[in-house]
Amino acid sequence: MPSALRVENVTAQFGAFKAVDSVSLSVSDGELRVLLGANGAGKTTLMDLISGRIPCAEGDVQVYGRTITNWQEHRIASAGVGRKFQIPSVFRNLSVRKNIEVARCHSQSVFKNLRFRLPAADRRRVDDVLELTGLQDSAEQLAAHLSHGETQWLELGMLVAQDPKVVLLDEPTAGMTQGETSKTAEIIKRLRGDHSIVVIEHDMGFVREIAEVITVMHLGKVIAEGPVEQIEKDPEVRAAYLGSTGIL
Ligand SMILES: Nc1ncnc2c1ncn2[C@@H]1O[C@H](COP(=O)(O)OP(=O)(O)OP(=O)(O)O)[C@@H](O)[C@H]1O
Ligand SMILES: [Mg+2]
Repeated sequence: MPSALRVENVTAQFGAFKAVDSVSLSVSDGELRVLLGANGAGKTTLMDLISGRIPCAEGDVQVYGRTITNWQEHRIASAGVGRKFQIPSVFRNLSVRKNIEVARCHSQSVFKNLRFRLPAADRRRVDDVLELTGLQDSAEQLAAHLSHGETQWLELGMLVAQDPKVVLLDEPTAGMTQGETSKTAEIIKRLRGDHSIVVIEHDMGFVREIAEVITVMHLGKVIAEGPVEQIEKDPEVRAAYLGSTGIL
């Protein structure tokens, strides 16, 4: 089987500056990959290249062998690449369940969705997602009443409800308490296998809990790749982090 996600020598160019400089990365089917790197390393920009938010000046992006390089963002999403941003975009005046239902039938207009009764298979999937994200007891609550952590889980649920093959998560535990961070790790571990996941994360406790293979970026380039224990010992990685806080 081809890689779920294959990035080859991609470059993001802002004027003379290369925020991502000829980066290659291959994520296999069902893998959970952590992307690590100090501030400004180019991690978010790499996700921007993959999801089509910005164009690749060079290089190639493939999903299960299909080239999606420089496609429009919505086409890349339709090709099975789902992305969660740091700021949640839930419908605050809808219930938690309704938010996931709307995400599930995203091809319809939201207006239509509100009156639409989902087919039984989709309703079951919505229940699965509520269970997966631990929101089943809050299903009928308005999204506006959720805590910060719950709102993040809802948005993750809305993403997963669309059945993306490749899931890109940019700092999913930002602003979370330790308890919320652990729960997020549990949710993400359960997504592995059904989805191929790339997660940008700074919290090393979280990284140790979930990581199989870590890819480390520094100044736009990949400087190391391997299991957590190997990465933590890597002298180049340690040097790249000198002076930065809270990592390694
Ligand atoms: N649109 C842009 N125009 C010019 N420079 C940009 C643009 N977007 C990002 N950059 C620069 O590219 C570099 C990489 O930024 P990026 O946001 O990808 O880093 P990051 O690894 O996600 O960092 P952080 O951990 O702080 O989120 C930074 O120096 C940033 O200032
Ligand atoms: Mg970033």
